[in-house]
This record gives sequence, structure tokens and C-alpha cells, in this order.
Amino acid sequence: MYTPEYRMRRLRANANIRALVRETHLSADDFILPYFVVPGKGKRHPIKSMPGHFQLSIDELIADARQAMELGIRAVILFGIPEHKDPLGSDATSDEGIISRALRALKEALPELYVITDVCFCEYTDHGHCGLLHGNDVENDGTLAMLQDQVRVHARNGADMVAPSGMMDGMVGAIREALDDEGYANLPIMSYAVKYASGFYGPFRDAAESAPQFGDRSSYQMDPANGNEAMREAAIDIEEGADIIMVKPAMPYLDILHRVREEFGMPTAAYQVSGEFAMIKAAAANGWLDHDRVMLESLISIKRAGADLILTYFAREAAEKLRTAQ
Ligand code: PBG
Repeated sequence: MYTPEYRMRRLRANANIRALVRETHLSADDFILPYFVVPGKGKRHPIKSMPGHFQLSIDELIADARQAMELGIRAVILFGIPEHKDPLGSDATSDEGIISRALRALKEALPELYVITDVCFCEYTDHGHCGLLHGNDVENDGTLAMLQDQVRVHARNGADMVAPSGMMDGMVGAIREALDDEGYANLPIMSYAVKYASGFYGPFRDAAESAPQFGDRSSYQMDPANGNEAMREAAIDIEEGADIIMVKPAMPYLDILHRVREEFGMPTAAYQVSGEFAMIKAAAANGWLDHDRVMLESLISIKRAGADLILTYFAREAAEKLRTAQ
């Protein structure tokens, strides 16, 4: 009989020893919970492809976020769906726009909550693209001026952090300059530095009503085939002043997440996007996967690959599960 020289199973024998040698841990401190905010009162529209998530009016958002905080969630990221969309996405740069109003209300009701804003125009433009259109393309430098207006508005209405997601060249530098000039030198930027043109955003575009009305986002978001380009994107954003670098989506791009974390050693975020969430929900609803087990396994894999922070639609459920598991 062959007897092995090495016995890795010694440290897997029972729950105690497994816990003692576990290398990666999840907690509610890791999570950022995304919210979709709509105008009105008492609104709680279910998002079909994202079970458990809703388009919420500001009053409902406050109630929901209060419960999330009780589960240990510290941070949320806001996406706005305006009353009216127009070619310039003007709701996004108005002090009476949906995000401005949500910020003021949230900071007043829940001052302890850390509120991040998504900085982009696709939810606010009638054409659904992420900035200023010139013909059929998004005009880069004109969009930068719009992004500067948007972050000024977010900052003065109380955002704790801004997160530009439009993949415009120079967006981090432009935003840093606008914030510094306005007296917000201490407001951090989490850049969606490495954001792929991904099919996994499908459910989000229903939730945020932000699908492009023509074409796609391949002229500004990254080609899923590219890895070295991701390193350049991250390096440039760090150079321009990003405080946190994000990779998005998460699970299909764990190799990229790992490379970014290893190469730059920056606080690194991963966005487990709507499609990643929806796949797990759908399979679990069919009885094909064990929901809680796969939820936690997906999150630990993202953490293990290098994420310090995880934006995830599972934030609440995972926080709840982690709490009861202790
Ligand atoms: C753009 C933005 C998108 C997501 C976050 N910010 C959509 C897009 O690029 O089309 C997607 C997030 C998700 O799928 O959960 N403002």
C-alpha cells in the first residue's frame, strides 16, 4: 500500500481546526450595498431580475438603509433614476436632482451611514450613454466638464465618496481637480478604473433604466479579452489621484482583480454586478444551487483574489448570514 508523505487532511479534520487555519474572512465591513433611488413617496418597485432589490423612493431608502445598518452594513452606493431624462442628463447636475435630494435626506436621517455616489450620466440621459453625445459617440473631454459639475453637486449635498463609472479618459484627474478647487480635498475617489464592456450588467440596466438606446458601450468600456490594458487603466487612475481602484465585474475577472491588487497594493474594490447576482438567484430559485452556500463562496472567492471592498447586491443577506453564523 502506498502511504503519502504529506497529509494535508490533518488540518481539515474538524470545524475547529479549519477555522483556526482559515486564510480569508468575510464580514459586513467588507460590503458596499447598492441602491436605486426614484422620485416620489412610498415607492418600492421590485426589480424582477434582481430578487430582493427595489427601486426605492427616498423615504423607503432611509427605512431600508436603517435596517441594513443594524446588520452591520457601513456603506451604500446610490444610483439615481430621475423624473425626466434629457440629452445632457441635467438631473445629475442639479441640486434638486434625485441624488442631491437623496443625499441630503440620508445624511440627515442617518448621519453615521457612509454614502458613496455613482458618478456617471447613463441613468440621466435620454440616449442612455454615459456622457455628451457627438454624433453616435460619447465625446470624452466635454463629458469631463459634466462630470466635474456632477461631483461638485454630490460633494455639496453630502456625499462621503464619489465613484466615477463612465470610463472616460481623464475622469479621475478632472474630478480630483473639481473637488480640490471647491474645498473638498479630503473627499475620496473610488474609480471604476477597470470596467469591462460586460453582458453581466443586463439586470442593472433594467433596474436603472439605463440601457443605451443605440449601440453599446464598447467605445469606452474595456474589451473582456484584455488584461495588460487593465494594468494601464489602473496605473493612470492612481496617477490621477484615485484613492480606491475598482475592478468590475468580479467573478469573471478574478485574474485581473488579483493582478491589480498585487501590482499596485492599493485599496482595491470589486463589483459583483447585477448579472452575477441574478445568476445565483435564478439557479437557487430552481433548486439547482444552495443559495447561501454559493453566495458566501462567491464573496469569499472575490476577497481571496484580492478585494478589500466588495460592492454586492448580497450585502444584506450575507451580513445577516454571517451574523447568525457566529
Ligand atoms: C454605469 C454603471 C453600470 C453599472 C454600475 N454603474 C452599468 C453600465 O455600465 O451599463 C452596472 C452595475 C451592475 O450591473 O450591477 N453608471
